[in-house]
Amino acid sequence: MQTNVRIQLLEAFSNANGEFISGQALAEIIGCSRTAVWKHIEDLRKEGFELEAVRKKGYRILHAPDKVTENEILIGLQTKRLGKQVHFVETVDSTQKEAHRISQDGCMEGTLVIAEEQTAGRGRMARNWHSPKYTGIWMSIILKPELPPYRAPQFTLIAAVAIVEAVEEITGIQPEIKWPNDLLIKGKKITGILTELQADADQIHALIIGIGMNVNQSEFPKEIEKIATSLAIEKGEKISRALLIQRILEKLEFYYEMYVEEGFYPIKQLWEKYAISIGKQIIARTINKEIKGKAIGITDDGVLKLKDENGVIHEIYSADIEL
Ligand code: BTN
Repeated sequence: MQTNVRIQLLEAFSNANGEFISGQALAEIIGCSRTAVWKHIEDLRKEGFELEAVRKKGYRILHAPDKVTENEILIGLQTKRLGKQVHFVETVDSTQKEAHRISQDGCMEGTLVIAEEQTAGRGRMARNWHSPKYTGIWMSIILKPELPPYRAPQFTLIAAVAIVEAVEEITGIQPEIKWPNDLLIKGKKITGILTELQADADQIHALIIGIGMNVNQSEFPKEIEKIATSLAIEKGEKISRALLIQRILEKLEFYYEMYVEEGFYPIKQLWEKYAISIGKQIIARTINKEIKGKAIGITDDGVLKLKDENGVIHEIYSADIEL
């Protein structure tokens, strides 16, 4: 089926909100015969769509396959820039690396790089990121803010707030943020965020926000089963990844615009509201030392403030946090 026909068909079904659309109406929308409509419907069925056909009423979609290709993301997406350009690859080493390559060749702000599977997904501190096929969200968003590089860490926090709210709207579960980049449900990780830069000394050229989200996995490898969970495990049902991606892009765009207009302060307030560690005794393990103390907040640059037993306040730029 031609891509534009597929988009027109899916858009018509999306606008119908689960109601029937007659074969005649579909034929008019696509500009083809009713027999051709029937063939297109058969093609959708082959792709995994479950469609009901009733005489004198027409067709309606009962179930759409859980895919994250360009069409699934674009149809119904309510953003101005973010995700309007989608670079989908079935399998890639890392969407983060792919985004760096695309960005160097030149791309639109808001370009989304997404894959069904990563063979070398990476996390913070050069760790591996487990990214099995068809189950999670493995994506990188390319932004081009006109800002100096030192502002980049704030974007991890903006993304965390956006994802918390998107997950809550789609699943009804509100994850908690563990500084700087983890989202947890009941103490187990569902999302990691990796923000990387292409910049010179005083200007960001591209900011690449990588998001890894465990969505529909029903189990995890032994090494991480005690520390990782998925939305499906927590909710007890499968979640539409495309819908979740759309909501993340919409929220991220909203908070990105808020940040450009009003600065970091309103986002910092939200971040602290969703953060698990603030007000608690924690251990911060940096590359060369371990600091114990109470997490008392973050600075305007997104740096964690930790007050030790002597009342000394430490600013933590990069560390693993133990609660
Ligand atoms: C972390 O918690 O350490 C951050 C994990 C970030 C993983 C995502 S998955 C999509 C993007 N591509 C990558 O290779 N990494 C990020």
